[in-house]
Amino acid sequence: APLSQEDLKRIAAHRAVDLVESGMVIGLGTGSTAAHALDRLGDLIRRGVLRDIVGIPTSKKTEAHARAVGIPLSDLDAHPFVDLAIDGADEVDPYLNLVKGRGGSLLREKMIEGASRRFVVIVDETKMVNVLGGSGLAVPVEVIPFCWKFTLGKLRQLFVGIPGFDLKLRTDNGDEKTPSVTDNSNYVVDLYFENGISGDLVEISDAILKIVGVVEHGMFLGMATSVIIAGKEGGVTVIE
Ligand code: A5P
Repeated sequence: APLSQEDLKRIAAHRAVDLVESGMVIGLGTGSTAAHALDRLGDLIRRGVLRDIVGIPTSKKTEAHARAVGIPLSDLDAHPFVDLAIDGADEVDPYLNLVKGRGGSLLREKMIEGASRRFVVIVDETKMVNVLGGSGLAVPVEVIPFCWKFTLGKLRQLFVGIPGFDLKLRTDNGDEKTPSVTDNSNYVVDLYFENGISGDLVEISDAILKIVGVVEHGMFLGMATSVIIAGKEGGVTVIE
């Protein structure tokens, strides 16, 4: 039978967990791909193959999942140095820049993955893009709820004139009265770039972060140390 996208996610996740050694502090990612890594890690801990693992979860959802599969947990306050973080991504460009945060966990992910000596990204090949934003998916921006329309207006001004640009508040059911709320009790504004983001990504990142009211955004620039890509034929490519 041909491999499903779920199979590819699992293949990439297991390959990343092969890098885990006993005694390591591991950043635990969020999303459907990272979930396979949690299951695998829990399994290896239960079987005694891995010992003295400390997991640092990047979301409340991952915390619950990790606890359920028996991964001992801590946080960045107690463990500010993470050996290895493993997480999925929405998009990966040829320079290993990422878009993350479709699941809304970008802030904690960026804190923990930024504190990690190695950050291994696990994806199936559909996540690879030439230009960030190029797959038509959102580039998320976490904003504080206070006057979010004002902050959205500031974000719009940054990209005004770019053909195909659009942005909107992320909601639970399409209604602005029910904004999606992050683990940090913030909102998310999704940016859409029809043809991907053009220009200097670091400059664009800085400009977004300069807006008061913006907490963080989902572009992860220069953070990934390697990307494990599972392909349709079952082959795995590693880019470092
Ligand atoms: C969570 O906020 C995201 O950053 C995820 O890591 C990303 O959306 C990838 O998720 P999937 O593995 O489910 O595609």
